[in-house]
Amino acid sequence: MNLTSEEQAFLAGEYGPATRKAMQILCALGTIYAAESMVPVVSAQVAGVSYDNLGEAGLAFLDEMAAGGGKARIFATLNPAGMDVDNWQALGISPEFAANQARVIDAFTRMGFVAACSCTPYLLGNLPHYSEHLAWAESSAVCYANSVLGARTNREGGPSALAAALTGRTPAYGYHLESERHPSLTVTITVPLKGSADFSYLGVAIGRQMEALGTKPIPYLRGIPCASLEELKSFCASLATYGGAGLFHIEGITPEAALYSPPKEGLSITANDLKIAKDSLNLADPEEIDFVSLGCPHLSLAEIARLADLLEGRQVTKTFWITTSRPIKHLADRMGYTATIEASGALFAVDTCCVVAPIKDRFNALLTDSAKACYYAASKNRFKTRCQAFDHVVEEALR
Ligand code: F3S
Repeated sequence: MNLTSEEQAFLAGEYGPATRKAMQILCALGTIYAAESMVPVVSAQVAGVSYDNLGEAGLAFLDEMAAGGGKARIFATLNPAGMDVDNWQALGISPEFAANQARVIDAFTRMGFVAACSCTPYLLGNLPHYSEHLAWAESSAVCYANSVLGARTNREGGPSALAAALTGRTPAYGYHLESERHPSLTVTITVPLKGSADFSYLGVAIGRQMEALGTKPIPYLRGIPCASLEELKSFCASLATYGGAGLFHIEGITPEAALYSPPKEGLSITANDLKIAKDSLNLADPEEIDFVSLGCPHLSLAEIARLADLLEGRQVTKTFWITTSRPIKHLADRMGYTATIEASGALFAVDTCCVVAPIKDRFNALLTDSAKACYYAASKNRFKTRCQAFDHVVEEALR
């Protein structure tokens, strides 16, 4: 690879052992993907923050990097942790897990990472603009950054995102290259969509058809007249989970769609396709639900305001987690939404989510509006699932 003199100095250890190791990781990755050079990145977002995923081996790696003088050279934030960092007791997290999770957060903060633990960094000030290069790891956020914002990032693993944060570089391959961002499959949507759950089902329907093709096409969607921020974040999470996509274009909505013509190869998504996707996530009956969670990806302030409206003066009858980031929760506190929601018996689970928290065996069946949450609830935690529209989820939580 062609390295600048500064990159060669990183590799030679002139900036300390952690930076050298980070550069070694990036060079190995660049060699695998035949990158010709590194590209400077403006921000990093690191996944694998939950101690449930990291374990002692992952924590030892973080400690080694922190002890080796590792310091983030660019703005770097974290994906959700395994618990609400300030209020873990309320979520039934064990003291032992909490102590280990605190060690993880401590290692990251020693390296200068901003401990905003969220999969929606773009709602918290880690907001790139068009064509900026990033090194993000969370799949839904990668898809959002590439597609909705027109920024450029591959889906990094935890170590490579960390390495990018410590050097401000990533190998120039994949979505960093203009030539790798062209759409290759037209997807015509023939069904009207309304709300984040519909967009979540759409991601399942398209993702499964893409998987069946056996390739990883970049879809170019037609037939969606408008989509809100919340609908797009839901779609990104779902399409990334079910189709492995890191980039899509939507005609008239996403910024790069106008650069391309619709590809000749194509498929359609009908009302029946959407119904099949929805049915596949609804395997639990309402009576079986003992756990409700909204906030996959993390809720926006607008969604929390809606939740406060729906829950005002009412009582939930099941364990109900509302997952969001710390900065959004602070705004919810100030707006009075938190008090209204907590009076209903629902719990804020800040910094974390129903997938990365250690809750295996605690519940039987999850109700949510997120196809991604359903995917991991079934595969990781062995919960049955039920996936409904946002307002409908709240209504069922009150029954
Ligand atoms: Fe975010 Fe957790 Fe869902 S990280 S996208 S809330 S699985």
